[in-house]
Amino acid sequence: MSISLIGRNVGESVTLKLNETFAILKAKGEPVIHLGGGEPKSKAPLDAITAIAAHLNTAEVRYAPVDGSVEMKKAIIRYTLDHYHRLVEPENVIASSGAKQALMVALQAILDPQDEVIYPAPYWVSYPEMIKLCGAIPIPVVPSDGTFTPRMVDIEQNVTSYTKAIIINSPNNPSGAVYPGSFIKEIVEFCEKKGIYLIMDDIYHVLTFNGKKAANVFDYVTDFTENSKLILINGVSKAYAMTGFRIGWGIANKQLIKVMANIQGHQTSGPSILLQKAAIGAINGVQSSIESLRTTLENNRKVLVQRLRAFNGVHLIEPDGTFYAFADFSAYDKDSTRLSNFLLEKVKVLTMPGKEFGMEGYLRISFCGSIKEINEGIDRMKWALDPNSPNELYIGERKLVRDWL
Ligand SMILES: Cc1ncc(COP(=O)(O)O)c(C=O)c1O
Repeated sequence: MSISLIGRNVGESVTLKLNETFAILKAKGEPVIHLGGGEPKSKAPLDAITAIAAHLNTAEVRYAPVDGSVEMKKAIIRYTLDHYHRLVEPENVIASSGAKQALMVALQAILDPQDEVIYPAPYWVSYPEMIKLCGAIPIPVVPSDGTFTPRMVDIEQNVTSYTKAIIINSPNNPSGAVYPGSFIKEIVEFCEKKGIYLIMDDIYHVLTFNGKKAANVFDYVTDFTENSKLILINGVSKAYAMTGFRIGWGIANKQLIKVMANIQGHQTSGPSILLQKAAIGAINGVQSSIESLRTTLENNRKVLVQRLRAFNGVHLIEPDGTFYAFADFSAYDKDSTRLSNFLLEKVKVLTMPGKEFGMEGYLRISFCGSIKEINEGIDRMKWALDPNSPNELYIGERKLVRDWL
């Protein structure tokens, strides 16, 4: 079989693959617990549902403009004004099928083969593969001080004449780190000075805890004219618990948005008009669902952090945002893929291996499920990993017996 170089180079999404494995095990009736999830469990806002239902009832569901409907762009402009205090124009906005597609068309619009893209580790699993899909080279940068907060010195050391873009994701998947405003200011100034694209992936920006707030990139940007190299990515997936609706967007200079729209026009056309209606409903509707999701997550976070703190051998830098904790389990196994497989096989708990996020020895544990799931999942993990645990554990009627050390 003849496969392209890019096709051969791109790996599958391990997070999506593990989700699939989970679904198969669940369908077989296995008592699995998902601590690896990447989506809030709350319902989509009612305003989203009534808006999509109303359009569906017309039975006239047509193509949408390639870069998003007029109404969709208006809603995104409104969202940007509300959350970033910046009024952008419709030509600065593209709506896509998820933040993922907005990111992908942005990268395709700016990258040439052999260009380099820098992003701090740990990082979202899709960045390296998306960059490779453009024939470009991913350059992850691990903070040298052992924290999850990137430092300009580490980033600057990796900048070469091939560096075309830097991707910043704060609050960060998988670490939950919320990067300080001082860092965002430095990176904006650096990118403006060097003429490097700065891609801000803000998909989790409203999900922060304990009074922390995600920095607003527009507080530091000095130039948002046609020379601007800022690309801001966001969407409804996480904030409104609308992952399945697949609506995200990009905000950038008008010329770049036009190029992104040209690319999107040949890939998928505009995002589904039905799903745009739902996203418009969510953005223009009652906003209380964001705060209620955030409060639920803050409670869940407290429970998970307490449980992980009481887990001997586990090292945790507490998350300030998202719905993930990224904990160092290397005292139990330095190979995170093996550890994740072991936990799934022995105690039916799904976690995500840190290796996929650029840090071996860690596990990403989500707190977007219920407190019951968090508690039971951690109980099972402790039982599996602590050599002093009793020999048997009951999951409902099922008896598990330790046949390992
Ligand atoms: C950091 C990050 N960016 C982008 C996305 C993609 O969001 P969407 O579901 O809107 O495509 C995700 C989804 O998990 C994410 O974690």
